[in-house]
Amino acid sequence: MTEPLLVFDDVHLSFGAVKAVNGVSFDVGRNELFAVIGPNGAGKTSIFNVLSGVYRPQQGSVRLGGDELLRKSPPTIARLGMARTFQNIELFTNLTVLDNLMLGRHQHINYTALEAFVWVGRARREEIRHRRLVEEIVDFLELEQWRKMPVGLLPYGVQKRVELGRALAMEPKILLLDEPVAGMNLEETEDMARYILDIRDELDLSLIMVEHDMGLVMDIADRVMVLDFGTRIAIGTPAEVQRDPAVLHAYLGGELTDGEVAG
Ligand SMILES: Nc1ncnc2c1ncn2[C@@H]1O[C@H](COP(=O)(O)OP(=O)(O)O)[C@@H](O)[C@H]1O
Ligand SMILES: [Mg+2]
Repeated sequence: MTEPLLVFDDVHLSFGAVKAVNGVSFDVGRNELFAVIGPNGAGKTSIFNVLSGVYRPQQGSVRLGGDELLRKSPPTIARLGMARTFQNIELFTNLTVLDNLMLGRHQHINYTALEAFVWVGRARREEIRHRRLVEEIVDFLELEQWRKMPVGLLPYGVQKRVELGRALAMEPKILLLDEPVAGMNLEETEDMARYILDIRDELDLSLIMVEHDMGLVMDIADRVMVLDFGTRIAIGTPAEVQRDPAVLHAYLGGELTDGEVAG
C-alpha cells in the first residue's frame, strides 16, 4: 500500500473565535482531480493557505509525498512540489507571457549570481533548459499568439491561462486552483475545463480545485469534499455528494444541480 500523494490530517486553524478549519482531514491520490466546495466563509481559501504555507494551523499535519509541510516556508513548500493559482489573478501585468512563465522557473534556477559569472557555460545550459520548458508550456496551453505580449493587455480568460502556465512552470507534483473559471464566459470555462483535464491526464499531475461552478465540479472532479463553517460535511464522488442530505441542507435546501451556487 502506498500513501496518497497528499495527506491533510486533522487540521485546526482558528482566527480568534472563528474556526476557519475545524479538524478537517482528506487525502489526494496521484493523478486525482479533487474538488473543494462550500458556501462563502466555509474555509476553502484557508485550506489552500494552509497547504501553501501562508497560514500556520494550531494543530494537524500536512504531508506531500512523505514530506511534512507544516511549519515550512511557502518557498520551501513550493520547491517540494506544491504550486497554486489565485482567486484574483496575480501576474506581472507589464511583463510578457514568456517573462511571467520564466518567473515561475525562478525557484528552480540552481546557480548563484556569482556562479553565473564564473561558470557561464553551466548558466547558459540552465537558461536553455528553462526556455525549452517554458516553450513546452506555451504549446500545451496554446499561448503562442500571445507569448511576446504584456499580460495586462490580454483577455481575462487568457490571463487565467498564463497564471496556470506559471504554476506549471514550477514543475509541481500537485496544483492548487482557486476558482479557475471565476468570471469566465461559457467558452472560456469549457477551454479551462479541457486544460485542467489535460493537466491530469497528459502531465500526470494531481490537482485540488476550489470552484463555485457546480456544473464544472460535478462534470470533471474525481472526488469532491464539501465544507461548511470550517467542517467537512461530505466527501465522495460527485454523484455521492450530490445526494448527501447534509450537503443539500448546507446549500439551503436547494438542489445541487448545474449552475452557480452563491458564495
Ligand atoms: N486572515 C484571516 N483573519 C481572520 N479571519 C479569517 C482570515 N482568513 C479567513 N478568515 C475567516 O475564516 C473563515 C473562512 O474563510 P475562507 O477560508 O476565506 O472561506 P472561503 O474561501 O470558503 O469563502 C471566515 O469566517 C473568514 O472570515
Ligand atoms: Mg475563498
